[in-house]
Amino acid sequence: MTGGAGFIGSHTVVSLIEAGFEPIIVDDFSNSQRTALDGLRTILGREITCHTVNCTDAAAMHEIFANERLSGVIHFAAFKAVGESVAKPLKYYRNNLDSLVLLLELMPQYGVKNLVFSSSCTVYGQPKQLPVTEATPRQPAESPYGNTKAISEDIIRDAVRSELPVRALALRYFNPIGAHPSAQIGELPLGVPANLVPFITQTAAGIRPSLMVYGGDYDTPDGTCIRDYIHVMDLAEAHVQALRKLAESRETSSYDVINIGTGRGETVLSLIKTFEQETGVPLNYTIGPRRPGDIEKVYADVTKATQTLGWTARRSLAESLQDAWRWQEKLNHKVLEL
Ligand code: UD1
Repeated sequence: MTGGAGFIGSHTVVSLIEAGFEPIIVDDFSNSQRTALDGLRTILGREITCHTVNCTDAAAMHEIFANERLSGVIHFAAFKAVGESVAKPLKYYRNNLDSLVLLLELMPQYGVKNLVFSSSCTVYGQPKQLPVTEATPRQPAESPYGNTKAISEDIIRDAVRSELPVRALALRYFNPIGAHPSAQIGELPLGVPANLVPFITQTAAGIRPSLMVYGGDYDTPDGTCIRDYIHVMDLAEAHVQALRKLAESRETSSYDVINIGTGRGETVLSLIKTFEQETGVPLNYTIGPRRPGDIEKVYADVTKATQTLGWTARRSLAESLQDAWRWQEKLNHKVLEL
């Protein structure tokens, strides 16, 4: 798995081990930290093989494919900061697309058949109908980051159309939040978090003075945006099911996309209320202007995930926020110890 030390990758390592797989991490730690490996060791009571390699490095990737007996690839590694992608588009196109093309070249050479790719609900833009199904047309991307996800899906589709012997599933993630309940691994945003839940937990912890809610005049029940927030362990388990599904397949070449969300839409204000209720920590926030590029509302139709993967999200929003908070408290303790 590429990007196996990152937020979603590290949680998927846990789910894969629980399901009897033997994950091998390839990560260059450009956007993740080695402490994730310490957390994994504590949870699992053992080491996980990790290659410190940039997954656009063809020679190093060849070597990994040659030396490890791989049954499949989960490709998490990618740059993902929307704002930065606008300022540095080539950095995003080079990294996010090169790594995928290289994997698609290597897999058939080494007889590796199964690929799970991290896509995003960002490909839908603002859908006209909700909940959004996989048949909902994609919209032009709002950012180079979002475009790399759309182009990556197309690259896989075209490669499979050309009968490249790869079976691929692109999972379109909605908004992943939370952390492993042990608080040994979680999200580690670099600098000021752009995403809502890390910003909330850092504000509650006193690291940030106040949260700005971006826009209170949207066409939603309380005027704030609606998203589909999914616990990262539920998301992790979806990858296990995707790998199993691919392993069962008799096809030589296939490609499909699947929404991975809870199917529930939540406003920013209701998420804040749940956070305060669950943690007992009052949150300092103000309602400010809209954030450019934000989507008003999006949440998943998860029928396809249920039917094709036999998977549904099991954890509640309350549980997700409790776990996110437990992780933040653990980080605070670490800072105090230093
Ligand atoms: C963002 C990205 C999306 C990416 C996803 C990865 C944008 C426009 N979209 O999605 O492409 O795939 O992260 O997780 O950046 N909010 C606040 N105050 C904050 C932060 C967020 O009110 O300080 C609100 C936002 O307006 C939004 C919701 O919280 O309504 C969720 O925001 P965020 O966590 O950034 O996720 P997305 O915008 O859905």
